[in-house]
Amino acid sequence: SLPARLKKTIVMVGMMGAGKTAVGRALAARLNVPFLDSDHEIEAAANLTIPEIFARDGVAYFRQKERQVISRLLSEQCGVLSTGGGAFLSGENREIIKENGVSLWLQADLEVTWNRVKHRNTRPLLQTENPRETLSALYEVRVPMYAKADLHVPSDGQVSIEGMVDRALQAL
Ligand code: S3P
Repeated sequence: SLPARLKKTIVMVGMMGAGKTAVGRALAARLNVPFLDSDHEIEAAANLTIPEIFARDGVAYFRQKERQVISRLLSEQCGVLSTGGGAFLSGENREIIKENGVSLWLQADLEVTWNRVKHRNTRPLLQTENPRETLSALYEVRVPMYAKADLHVPSDGQVSIEGMVDRALQAL
């Protein structure tokens, strides 16, 4: 039987590289519910990649689209929703997510997230002189926001995706 909380969408939040998409997808499969992904929806609607959207329209525009997409997805159907790393930072977004979902923070160390993102150039926020420093600064500012999530699930890098799903299910 499904956890009682699945009357609401489970919203994966946390740093880029924490595993929100991989774990969210596997969690949805295990629960046999739809998997939704806000970054993917934004890209599909614009027919552009996230770096292209940032370059063309800027970060404020992206955040606006992100808020609209999250609020639409949460109103449509229940499932597991993976969000971008910036989605849980504004009070407005947190309210939308708290009202309509159960937020689950994938809590990964800075080192773990760095190792997952360093070889990819899909994160426009890390296109800086010193991406490691940039990530570290984002991490410091963001952790207190992510900590406001309903559920905290540690992701230490050694655990498999299915192991993370087990942890998430226990937390639910
Ligand atoms: C962002 C994270 C990205 C994407 C965008 C902004 C952020 O998603 O939404 O590049 O502000 O941390 P992931 O967390 O899936 O990398």
